[in-house]
Amino acid sequence: MSTQPADSLRLCSLDELPDPGSRGFDIDGIKLFAVCHQGQVRLYLNRCPHRGIPLEWQPDSFLDSSGQLIQCATHGALFLPESGECIAGPCSGQSLQSLHHEVHDNALWWRRN
Ligand code: FES
Repeated sequence: MSTQPADSLRLCSLDELPDPGSRGFDIDGIKLFAVCHQGQVRLYLNRCPHRGIPLEWQPDSFLDSSGQLIQCATHGALFLPESGECIAGPCSGQSLQSLHHEVHDNALWWRRN
């Protein structure tokens, strides 16, 4: 456990996260990903509720071809970027686990506590 008072970790510059776009991270073996959609950035655990495996089909590619929905590469589940709710596929009605984050200094930060 970290004893640092401010347990925020800088993930990337906002310039590295297009809108719409996504980006994956592996922090100490924890896989997570950020998605930017309609000007809003969200951060989720990179773990599909269906099988508990990572979602992306290529590095940093978490969105469907329209760029409007998060898509799991394995069985095609579709998730809303704004809430992480699965709206189609084998885990319909379940949700991605959202993570606390901050946007400041033109960067995305993961707030781990
Ligand atoms: S593992 Fe994601 S839809 Fe099956």
